[in-house]
Amino acid sequence: MQLKKLPQIKILATGGTIAGSAASAGQLTGYTAGSLGVESLIDAVPQLREIASVSGEQLANIDSCNLTSALWFKLAARCNKLMADDSVDGIVITHGTDTLEETAYFLNLTVNGTKPVVITGAMRPATAISADGPLDLLNAVKTAACPAACGKGALVVMNDIILAARYATKTSAFKVEAFQAQPYGQIGTVAGGRVFIEAECLKYHTTQSVFSGKSYNKLPRVDIIYTHCDEDDVLINAAVNAGARGIVYAGSGMGSVHSGAYQALKQAAQNGVAVVRSTRISEGRVLPANPEWDAAGFISGGNLNPQKARILLQLALTVTAEQQKLQQFFDEY
Ligand code: SIN
Repeated sequence: MQLKKLPQIKILATGGTIAGSAASAGQLTGYTAGSLGVESLIDAVPQLREIASVSGEQLANIDSCNLTSALWFKLAARCNKLMADDSVDGIVITHGTDTLEETAYFLNLTVNGTKPVVITGAMRPATAISADGPLDLLNAVKTAACPAACGKGALVVMNDIILAARYATKTSAFKVEAFQAQPYGQIGTVAGGRVFIEAECLKYHTTQSVFSGKSYNKLPRVDIIYTHCDEDDVLINAAVNAGARGIVYAGSGMGSVHSGAYQALKQAAQNGVAVVRSTRISEGRVLPANPEWDAAGFISGGNLNPQKARILLQLALTVTAEQQKLQQFFDEY
């Protein structure tokens, strides 16, 4: 009898709580994220060997609150190489949950291939009672080995659910149920040990993305300005003076611009700084709203949250500075 070949899954480890360790099983805060190596993560889940042939690579071992775009470039380059490697069927990335959604969205836009790219993490360190990392890793590898996950863009697998990176966002600072996909929800689940994928993201990603397959080593500066009561122009002018080529304005409501910030944003846009109206609200869509803002040349950020709007704007600015073309990216991606 011929033995069935197991799928080959590459695990790229970058740190986070999934690789975190604490002094005791009861310690769930104040631990060191990114302290265990990828081999320890793999060894902690012997069931992985039953479903896939896994091999690990340590690309970083950081607390993801310290994420830099240098890690994005490294991950994207490695994923693009693995896409072209016939011996690999899928990729799993372990990552801190704090900024996992940003890395996932960057890879969603820059990896050129249809093999699954699955990002996972954990909310409790590996040493904790009821650590969630081992099951998240097992579910991520199952998803990366699943043919139905091919061509779906980067996916986030956490707490038994599968989310499209375009929409996945961290919504709890401490619960194991830490991620949601707003506003459309999960595209699948891992239940009873099986992977079910029953929806997909229709926005451009991976092979359809004009940013995919390129090699990046620097992105233009884009700052996020978060509106609040008594807002003035100080932070906007600081961003412009620091050389920002773009500003994502996390406005109130449907991306509303505070009158204290408006003139500085308008001036920035007139001087060629791309200004994207986003929102500090967790769900909704920023559309053209006030004719004054549209006349000032502000771009509507749609339903990307500010941290993802920043990534799209950084990438879009590598190909154009024209307001209408930038708006098209926000409409399509
Ligand atoms: C991190 O993001 O690296 C720490 C927190 C976490 O992974 O949940």
